[in-house]
Amino acid sequence: MDTRFVKTLAAVALVPLLLVSCAANDDSTALEGGEKVVAEGKLTVCTHLPYEPFQYQEDGQIVGFDVDMVDLVAKELGVEQTIVNTPFETIETGQAMSTGKCDLAAAGMTITEERSRVMDFSDPYFNATQALLVQKGAGYDSLESLSGKTLGVQTGTTGQEYAEENAPADVELKVFEDLALLSGAVKTGSVDAGINDNGVLYDYVEQNPDTEVSIEFDTGEQYGFAVAKDQNDALLDTTNQVLDQAKQDGTYEKLFRKYFPDAELPGFVG
Ligand code: ARG
Repeated sequence: MDTRFVKTLAAVALVPLLLVSCAANDDSTALEGGEKVVAEGKLTVCTHLPYEPFQYQEDGQIVGFDVDMVDLVAKELGVEQTIVNTPFETIETGQAMSTGKCDLAAAGMTITEERSRVMDFSDPYFNATQALLVQKGAGYDSLESLSGKTLGVQTGTTGQEYAEENAPADVELKVFEDLALLSGAVKTGSVDAGINDNGVLYDYVEQNPDTEVSIEFDTGEQYGFAVAKDQNDALLDTTNQVLDQAKQDGTYEKLFRKYFPDAELPGFVG
């Protein structure tokens, strides 16, 4: 056979495959309760790694508080949770959910008014506040104390926004793609301080005693899971039911203690 003919044959053979994969993309399947999922038999969950202890890799597995919480939802739905790691901007703009990359976002993500316009949030499942990570004894304990210094922020986060709005103009903000790069930069001294959520920073200083959390800013944030805006009420309802049940029956408390042994249980539990 001449190669042109072979190429044509191959191209023709590909056509039905392409059609099938396009169809699968915008045709999500529905589960018994009407919950739409993009991949059959699965709950496809977008997150941004690492955000320990909410989602991080351990022995080649993605684990964490969010992972365990969402497993409860997957179990209720009778499907497997499968996790997709994607830049935080794609999650916090709602894009990852609205384009069908995933059914649910679970990323230690703060419920904000702005985000609520482009995604639907579940009920709150965690309380957080911004906090400052510094090298132990560095003495920076406010944004003002960082005048003329550098402050690391994580891109697309509420911490970045808080720093942009509240840090004196002569604090140089350095933007990092993820938490590990940000906290590593503080530890090695390539920035003077870093701002992020208190839960992850306390976890970090526990493992890195040469660093400390010097102040909390009391931003009063709450985390929510999120689905595509106005497109998956059934999945949102089921998620809220599962959360509610877990908060009432001791499951939430058990999981909370597993990752935050010394923290105060949120008021919405029990
Ligand atoms: N809670 C903060 C926010 O919503 C930070 C979340 C970062 N999460 C992550 N998985 N990287 O902006």
